[in-house]
Amino acid sequence: MSQTKPVYASFKSIGAYVPEKILSNADLEKMVDTTDEWIVKRTGISERRIAAEDEYTSDMGVKAAELAIERSGISKDEIDLVLCATVTPDYFNMPSTACIISDKLGIKNVQAFDISAACSGFVYLLSVAKAFIESGMKKNVLVVGAEKFSSIVDYTDRSTCILFGDGAGAAMLCATDKKEEGFIDLHASADGSYADFLVTPAPGSINPVSQKVIDEGLNFVQMKGNETFKLAVKTLTKDVKEILAKNEINADDIPHFIPHQANYRIIKAVGDALKMREDQVVVTVGKYGNTSAASIPMAINDIWESGRLQTGELMLLDTFGGGLTWASALLPFAGKSI
Ligand code: ACO
Repeated sequence: MSQTKPVYASFKSIGAYVPEKILSNADLEKMVDTTDEWIVKRTGISERRIAAEDEYTSDMGVKAAELAIERSGISKDEIDLVLCATVTPDYFNMPSTACIISDKLGIKNVQAFDISAACSGFVYLLSVAKAFIESGMKKNVLVVGAEKFSSIVDYTDRSTCILFGDGAGAAMLCATDKKEEGFIDLHASADGSYADFLVTPAPGSINPVSQKVIDEGLNFVQMKGNETFKLAVKTLTKDVKEILAKNEINADDIPHFIPHQANYRIIKAVGDALKMREDQVVVTVGKYGNTSAASIPMAINDIWESGRLQTGELMLLDTFGGGLTWASALLPFAGKSI
C-alpha cells in the first residue's frame, strides 16, 4: 500500500483491572509447605489477585479495555483492530478471546485475533499493532493482555503456585503523523529450543484431554524455575543493553524502565546490571505476582494512575516468557497525564 505521508503508531492510553480476591502468602502457607518469609525473600511477592470462578479472561480484558478506550478519547466505532495476548484464553482454542472481548465491548465487524507468546505477549502485540498502523492498514488498535493464570496453576505445587496471579491491562495504539509520538524502537525474538522451560502440556494436539491428562495434572503449568531465572536475567539485560546502544540512549536517561514482573530478584539483577536508580525501575510484582501477558500493561497503568507517567516521557519495556520469547521496546507515552 503506497502512502504519501509517513504514519507512526502512538501509545495513546492505558487501563488495567485486577480481581477483588487477594491470595496472600499467609493463605498459601495453609495450602502448601511454604512460608511468607521464603516467598518474599526469593520472589518479592506478598500477594496476588485471583479471579472469581465465573470471571473469565475476557471479562478482565473488557474492564481494562473500557478504561483504555475512555482515556484515549477514541470512540469504540473508530477502533479497527482488536488484539489479545493470553496463554489462558476463555477457550482452547476457538473462539479467540479477542473476538469475545470485541463482542462484549460492542465492537462489530472488526478484525480480532489472539496471540500466544506467554509473558512477552503484550510487547509482541505492540509490534503487531505498530506494523498494522505504520503500513496504513489500521488506524486505532486496541491491545489487550489478559490472564486468568489461576486456571492453569496447580495449587499443590509450591514452586509455581506462589508466583502467578490474575489480571488484565490494555492500551490504545493510534496512527499519528507526529514522529515524536511514535516508537523509537522495538525488538522481539524467540528461541524454541528452550520450549521445555515453561510448558502447559495439555490440552493440545500432543495431549488431547484424556483421563491421563487429569490423573497426571498435565493441564497445569510446569516450569524449570531455576533455569528460567538464570536465562531471564541474562536475556533481559542483554536485550536492554542492545536496544539502548542501538539508539544511543543512556540507561540514566530512561525515566521509566518497565520490566516483566516475574520475580523481584530478576528485576533487581537487571536494574543493577544497567546501573539504574531505584526510582527508574517500576516494580509491581509484590502486590500482583506474575500476571504473564498482563504484567507490563498493569505496571504501566500503575505509574500512570499514580501520576508518575507524564505525557511524552520515555518508557523502556523489557520482557521474557514461555517459548522462550523475549522483547523490548523504547517509546514515549503519547497520552494525557493524570
Ligand atoms: N516454599 C519453600 N521452599 C520452596 C518453595 C516454596 N514456595 N518453592 C521451592 N522451594 C524449595 C525447593 O524445593 C528447593 O528445595 P531443595 O533445595 O531442598 O531442593 C529450594 O526451595 C530451592 O529451590 P530453587 O528452585 O532452586 O529456588 P529458587 O531460588 O530458584 O527460586 C523460583 C524458585 C522462585 C521459582 C525462581 O527460580 C524463579 O522465580 N524462577 C523464574 C520463574 C519465572 O520467572 N517464571 C515465569 C516466566 S514468564 C512466563 O512466561 C510465565
